Amino acid sequence: MLARGRRKDYQPDMGHAVTLIEGDGIGPEVTGAAVRVVEAAGVGVDWERAEAGAAAAARHGTALPDATIESVRRTGVALKGPTTTPVASGHASANVALRKALDLYANLRPVRSQAGVKTRYDGVDLVVVRENTEDLYSGIEHVVVPGVVETLKIITERASSRIAEFAFRHAEREGRRRITAVHKANIMKLSDGLFLECCRRTARAHPAVAYDEIIVDACCLQLVRDPSRFDVLLLENLYGDIVSDLCAGLVGGLGVVPGANLGDRCAVFEAVHGSAPDIAGKGIANPTACLRSATLMLRHLGEDRAAGRIDRAIDRVLGASDVRTQDLGGKATTLQFTDAIVAALD
Ligand code: NAI
Repeated sequence: MLARGRRKDYQPDMGHAVTLIEGDGIGPEVTGAAVRVVEAAGVGVDWERAEAGAAAAARHGTALPDATIESVRRTGVALKGPTTTPVASGHASANVALRKALDLYANLRPVRSQAGVKTRYDGVDLVVVRENTEDLYSGIEHVVVPGVVETLKIITERASSRIAEFAFRHAEREGRRRITAVHKANIMKLSDGLFLECCRRTARAHPAVAYDEIIVDACCLQLVRDPSRFDVLLLENLYGDIVSDLCAGLVGGLGVVPGANLGDRCAVFEAVHGSAPDIAGKGIANPTACLRSATLMLRHLGEDRAAGRIDRAIDRVLGASDVRTQDLGGKATTLQFTDAIVAALD
């Protein structure tokens, strides 16, 4: 599915080198489950452990040590747990720094209804494509005078055209029918206007995929009313962040939606959810989103068969048993759910 970043020196008889970033909070619990299931599926992986997040900041004085960036540059692929970023003070986000350092410009989040997980809608099948490197996440803000703060929203032609091209190519490869660019160009006429101009130009070069546009607030309304109206959503960084969580709510919540951060050289796979401090360490986190992120990673590595086996095992456990974690209305612990997935591998 994802043709980028595969190590050229990979031999089938040796393991794939993959950087493993456990992260904070529930990160070690959900990545631990993913490592176990990938190994149970018979894929040889040499996990290279690296640190990022609040624990790394406390230990090394930086939330993203250079050694972590170097590791992902070397392996080309990482599986990452969520990292904690303090609100309104403290260290800057390790995620934003990692995406910038490795130029992981495309954030891809497939949002699908899960077998056996009852929500308001059946058959949701959307893809969120989020620009990952600029917008209000540039982190350029300052106090103009006491009581007045300015934050810069940076939108460039280069990044907007690059993410639009990524979205259209992804749509063509995956047989998707429509791309909807999401914006607020009625208010931010220059910045979101430039984003739209780049999307329109890219759309003209890909006539086989239909293209339309919607204002972000109207998009949220339409998504909760009738998600089948959309196919691929193409968004700037901030709108993509917010709309992703909304989309997760359509299919069972943050515990089930995976993601991939993709660049031309490296790929970092991680769930949409955060470090969930409210349940960290309790052994009750849902590892599904991290497991699905691992199957995206396996497809990226050319291990489609193993990825299919794991996806089917998740479908079987959620679809045909009552083994599920609390967020999905069950009683299973992370460990019990993971045991069930391993047992359900075909
Ligand atoms: P969150 O996603 O961590 O949690 C929101 C709610 O969803 C909580 O009630 C949590 O228990 C639940 N939840 C999330 N994942 C779950 C799972 N796998 N199983 C069961 N329940 C789950 O969002 P929140 O609380 O806003 O952020 C917490 C921290 O995570 C913050 O420091 C934030 O910056 C960070 N974060 C990190 C991300 C990353 O590393 N990619 C992404 C989003 C947030």
